[in-house]
Amino acid sequence: MAKEKEKLIYLMCKFAGRKKIGVLLISAISTALLLWLLYAPQGEDSQKENQTLKSWLNGSILGITLPIPPPTYFLGYSLPPGHPCNNFTLPPPPSDRKRTGPRPCPVCYLPVEEAIALMPKFPSPSPVLENLTYIYEGNLSRDGEFGGSDFGGYPTLKQRNDSFDIKQSMSVHCGFVRGIKAGRNTGFDMDDADLLEMDQCRGVVVASAIFGNFDDINQPSHISEYSMKTVCFFMFIDEETEKALTSSGRLRGKNIGLWRIIVVHNLPYADPRRNGKIPKLLLHRLVPNARYSIWIDGKLELLADPYQILERFLWRKNATFAISKHYKRFDVFLEAEANKAAKKYDNASIDFQIEFYKNEGLTPYTEAKLPIISDVPEGCVIVREHVPISNLFTCLWFNEVDRFTSRDQISFSTVRDKLLSKVDLHVNMFLDCERRNFVVQKYHKYVLAILARRRAPAALNPPPPPQLPVPPRPPAAR
Ligand SMILES: *[C@@H]1O[C@H](CO)[C@@H](O)[C@H](O)[C@H]1NC(C)=O
Ligand SMILES: *[C@@H]1O[C@H](CO)[C@@H](O)[C@H](O)[C@H]1NC(C)=O
Ligand SMILES: *[C@@H]1O[C@H](CO)[C@@H](O)[C@H](O)[C@H]1NC(C)=O
Ligand SMILES: *[C@@H]1O[C@H](CO)[C@@H](O)[C@H](O)[C@H]1NC(C)=O
Ligand SMILES: *[C@@H]1O[C@H](CO)[C@@H](O)[C@H](O)[C@H]1NC(C)=O
Ligand SMILES: *[C@@H]1O[C@H](CO)[C@@H](O)[C@H](O)[C@H]1NC(C)=O
Ligand SMILES: *[C@@H]1O[C@H](CO)[C@@H](O)[C@H](O)[C@H]1NC(C)=O
Ligand SMILES: *[C@@H]1O[C@H](CO)[C@@H](O)[C@H](O)[C@H]1NC(C)=O
Repeated sequence: MAKEKEKLIYLMCKFAGRKKIGVLLISAISTALLLWLLYAPQGEDSQKENQTLKSWLNGSILGITLPIPPPTYFLGYSLPPGHPCNNFTLPPPPSDRKRTGPRPCPVCYLPVEEAIALMPKFPSPSPVLENLTYIYEGNLSRDGEFGGSDFGGYPTLKQRNDSFDIKQSMSVHCGFVRGIKAGRNTGFDMDDADLLEMDQCRGVVVASAIFGNFDDINQPSHISEYSMKTVCFFMFIDEETEKALTSSGRLRGKNIGLWRIIVVHNLPYADPRRNGKIPKLLLHRLVPNARYSIWIDGKLELLADPYQILERFLWRKNATFAISKHYKRFDVFLEAEANKAAKKYDNASIDFQIEFYKNEGLTPYTEAKLPIISDVPEGCVIVREHVPISNLFTCLWFNEVDRFTSRDQISFSTVRDKLLSKVDLHVNMFLDCERRNFVVQKYHKYVLAILARRRAPAALNPPPPPQLPVPPRPPAAR
């Protein structure tokens, strides 16, 4: 850097000596130099340098190329010694044995201003993988052996296998295969104004979706002023939900409360839950410039500030991906049985998927897998940083959902472990009770309707105040 500055001064003097060079140029160069000296980066903060100035200098000063600073990464932090969150321990579970179902527990968040101040200036390192691009197939090839869709493409088993072989530069299937831009003639299409809005979201995004008019729109609460100004809250809805919201008069402009409503057309799947996996797992394709995201299922209400959640579950943990573990099950085989018993998907498809994974080496969870604490996530919330490796993770996870059943808790550990065998993926699996600290589950609309009908007789005379019945506790079954 110092050398470059010397060189510039030398050139300045040299040209200053020539009479043909106008005063203007000299003063322009001096101004530029002065600015550069003033603002030129020193040491670690080198990425703060002023791009405008840099390109101006680069372009106009006689072809001198300034040194490109090495990439700088966020490498984690620890809270100061003695910080109360350092030896924060969970209180013992309630002794009341009748209330042992899933419940929330305390979480040591930082005050929201402190969390905001700790937002990393640089991205986390993405081990090995630096350049991730997505496969575009104007002409869909259907020689995939089984599974796949016109939306996700039909990757062959060889392509699947190759996609787990992490390289510096990779191109993988990641939904939206039929178009150059995700959301424009790809299926899951959105209006240009919405696509532009999403492109412009460069910091934190909180996203959710309601398809099939299944849920009411839950407003986030405990959101700081700063978050209201800086966080993008995107709620994806389908046309059916839009119709219901419009006819009830709740959707007038583009927003409902904090949520910017984004209407999705041409949903690629018949099953709303499968469509829901698109914004959940492919959010980095919809909001390509965002740095961090929090996904919450439509049935959930957010109860904490996004920066506090990011600080607690990502930054403080040096993780690029955080998801809660299932409150009870940590073994994929048991999870599959539970899914079958609860009729979440047809038995044969679940068995096929499990058999496929077993042949690839999936084993029941045992403590030998520590420090991995569970193979089964509770995937209704995903907190992540958008860096190539975490983007690859959710692309490949989506591809499993597209090839096999849509039960993403069955495929999670297979994708995670294949990646972990190659790179140091920083996944934080936190407690289900911690998740319940910052989201609360509302009943689906049809359950609310049943509840309302049940209590109708009692409401004959004085009509009850128009409020939603608050569920005592989220239902355990899932
Ligand atoms: C870079 O410099 C220009 C002109 O001096 C200024 O307008 C702009 O805000 C600066 N950008 C940053 C990121 O400092
Ligand atoms: C500087 O100029 C070179 C060559 O003209 C170009 O490749 C590079 O992108 C420019 N860098 C910036 C920061 O404008
Ligand atoms: C965070 O992870 C990076 C690697 O991704 C590592 O270099 C760094 O030391 C870690 N920081 C802490 C505090 O553990
Ligand atoms: C936290 O740990 C420090 C020393 O490790 C101890 O002195 C302090 O009492 C602990 N605080 C709590 C609340 O346990
Ligand atoms: C990333 O990969 C794509 C496709 O392989 C390639 O066209 C592009 O030049 C690469 N970009 C960088 C920065 O290496
Ligand atoms: C698309 O597929 C058809 C039929 O397989 C083939 O004739 C055509 O050349 C393909 N087009 C491109 C651009 O690959
Ligand atoms: C799958 O990929 C691995 C490398 O990641 C390779 O060793 C293996 O031969 C591949 N298997 C198949 C069936 O392609
Ligand atoms: C599916 O499997 C579950 C659990 O193994 C079993 O209880 C159920 O009867 C099966 N359903 C059918 C249709 O076979």
